Amino acid sequence: MTGVSLERVIKRYGTTQVIHGVDLEIAEGELCVFVGPSGCGKSTLLRMIAGLEETTDGRIVIAGADVTRADPAERGVAMVFQTYALYPHMTVGENMGFGLKMTGHPREEIARRVKEAARVLQLEPYLARKPKALSGGQRQRVAIGRAIVRHPSVFLFDEPLSNLDAELRVEMRVEIARLHKSMGATMVYVTHDQVEAMTLADKIVVLRAGRIEQVGAPIALYEDPGNRFVAGFIGSPSMNFLEGRAEAGGVALPALGQVVATPVRPPDGAVTVGLRPQDLTLVPGEGLGVDIVENLGSVCHVHCQAPDGTRLVVETRGVDAPRSGARVDVGIDPARAYLFDPHGGARLRGP
Ligand SMILES: Nc1ncnc2c1ncn2[C@@H]1O[C@H](COP(=O)(O)OP(=O)(O)O)[C@@H](O)[C@H]1O
Ligand SMILES: [Mg+2]
Repeated sequence: MTGVSLERVIKRYGTTQVIHGVDLEIAEGELCVFVGPSGCGKSTLLRMIAGLEETTDGRIVIAGADVTRADPAERGVAMVFQTYALYPHMTVGENMGFGLKMTGHPREEIARRVKEAARVLQLEPYLARKPKALSGGQRQRVAIGRAIVRHPSVFLFDEPLSNLDAELRVEMRVEIARLHKSMGATMVYVTHDQVEAMTLADKIVVLRAGRIEQVGAPIALYEDPGNRFVAGFIGSPSMNFLEGRAEAGGVALPALGQVVATPVRPPDGAVTVGLRPQDLTLVPGEGLGVDIVENLGSVCHVHCQAPDGTRLVVETRGVDAPRSGARVDVGIDPARAYLFDPHGGARLRGP
């Protein structure tokens, strides 16, 4: 039982509260991703689990034991940071084993664990090298190796791939997924990148301003977001949001001159309609102007503008890309329209 539970966890810096009572269950072996905009409290929460930040109130339980006041070293966790800070004068092997050496592990035990971690991370050919002779991705693997040799019950990652270039980031993302699969360890992974969250997570926790907005499997958050914030944060390109008015038989969208046949009865008639770019189609018409066309080859992101200035992104197949300056209309599948309260952003469901 090496899961993690957070119970009404609160963090205050002086009089400023930044984490406002978070409840969360992370199951044994789960890869749980904290995602949210910069400053929402992801690192703070992770550092509280690690014991690097004091928990002001509430309880943190790891593997069944209350560790709220325990030292970081007593928690059975290992953390991997964005900046991997390897010792430049030590070899890869020495860097990985250094923590164990400091805690007095026997030399043979250290050698055995370093060898095992190097095998898992495919670092065996580099054990005698200095960090400066490694690529960015290899250095980050050494930083992960430093965590693995400690045999933690929980791995904590704080934006470990943010310093890598785009190509390497995708590669390392797959490696971390593979690592999780092969070790079956509990992992908590912080990122501001929703693509990383979608691809890696068993469970995503969407945070905003120190509170949990929603917890769920990646596809559940994509298909069934609980509010406008989550709907807009998960999915790429972002969901389009249009102002609408409820009327008999559906919601009128003045910007598009269309009625979406999805009945709803909001208190004052105002509705925000959310439409994913992937759920829209381009149809012949004159309603919208095509502004920017981003053709990625397989898919194309078509940025359109309505006469009233409303902007809308439609995803099409690359070969179907229209030209900038063309006139189009959009086809809407009412079953794929999400409705939100324009005031608080809560999801509105059915009549
Ligand atoms: N040592 C500190 N003192 C005061 N406020 C802090 C401190 N560290 C972080 N904060 C505040 O806590 C909030 C959450 O920060 P952080 O957890 O680093 O966000 P994230 O990792 O999601 O970008 C921010 O508003 C930040 O300014
Ligand atoms: Mg952070």
